Amino acid sequence: MVRKNRLPKFPEDYLNDKVEEYDSSKWMERNQKRSTLYSLQYLIDKKLNDREDSGIEMGVSPLILDLGCGSGFSSVILIENGFRVIGIDILIDMLSKAREKKRIFKEYKALELILADINNLPIRVNSIDHIISISSYNFIIHGMENFGEKVKLINDTARYLHKTLKNNGRIIIEFYPKDEMELKMFNKSFINNGFSGFMVKQNPKQKSGQTYLLLKKKS
Ligand SMILES: C[S@@+](CC[C@H](N)C(=O)[O-])C[C@H]1O[C@@H](n2cnc3c(N)ncnc32)[C@H](O)[C@@H]1O
Repeated sequence: MVRKNRLPKFPEDYLNDKVEEYDSSKWMERNQKRSTLYSLQYLIDKKLNDREDSGIEMGVSPLILDLGCGSGFSSVILIENGFRVIGIDILIDMLSKAREKKRIFKEYKALELILADINNLPIRVNSIDHIISISSYNFIIHGMENFGEKVKLINDTARYLHKTLKNNGRIIIEFYPKDEMELKMFNKSFINNGFSGFMVKQNPKQKSGQTYLLLKKKS
């Protein structure tokens, strides 16, 4: 998520007093929630359907992972839309803010929170209905310089996400790859590891910047 005029820095924009600044920003809350609502529309996008899968069933409180849940703006939208939600974040500062909101606000009560790295998830295989990630996934290669190492890491992560999902599970990622090459690298990590899908850019002329990946586990 762009912070008004610039892309955020990880991890420094999510530590110490920056957490309060993040969480109390109405602008940030509005943007996170709006991107989550778009993602929910993409989750049921008919273009992801195929002959075996005629769309997702929303009647049974599906279990969804919110990868990089931060202080919980996205998670609470998912709860309000009928999902059971497990929020995952790597930074205790951000997760503590989500935990505080869970203690105080009734709409956050149903949120389960786990301190963990998206690249090393403590999640059982075949246990998750769907996955969503808002403004976080580009950070999973933070601090890595070597291209081959990045490719290996994101492929390993995509393979593991594939294992955690039940049949026909879907992933919607809203993120900010730094350039076209990085976007292709992320997209290929899914397409080469058992997912079908496509990407949507808010502004079709843009080379990188805000992008949604719409993905479905192939059976
Ligand atoms: C823009 S913020 C959170 C946005 C979140 N959607 C919300 O509603 O608050 C991005 C989050 O991604 C988390 N993050 C970055 N790298 C991560 C990783 N490897 N594993 C888990 N979380 C990560 C950061 O700690 C940060 O809280």
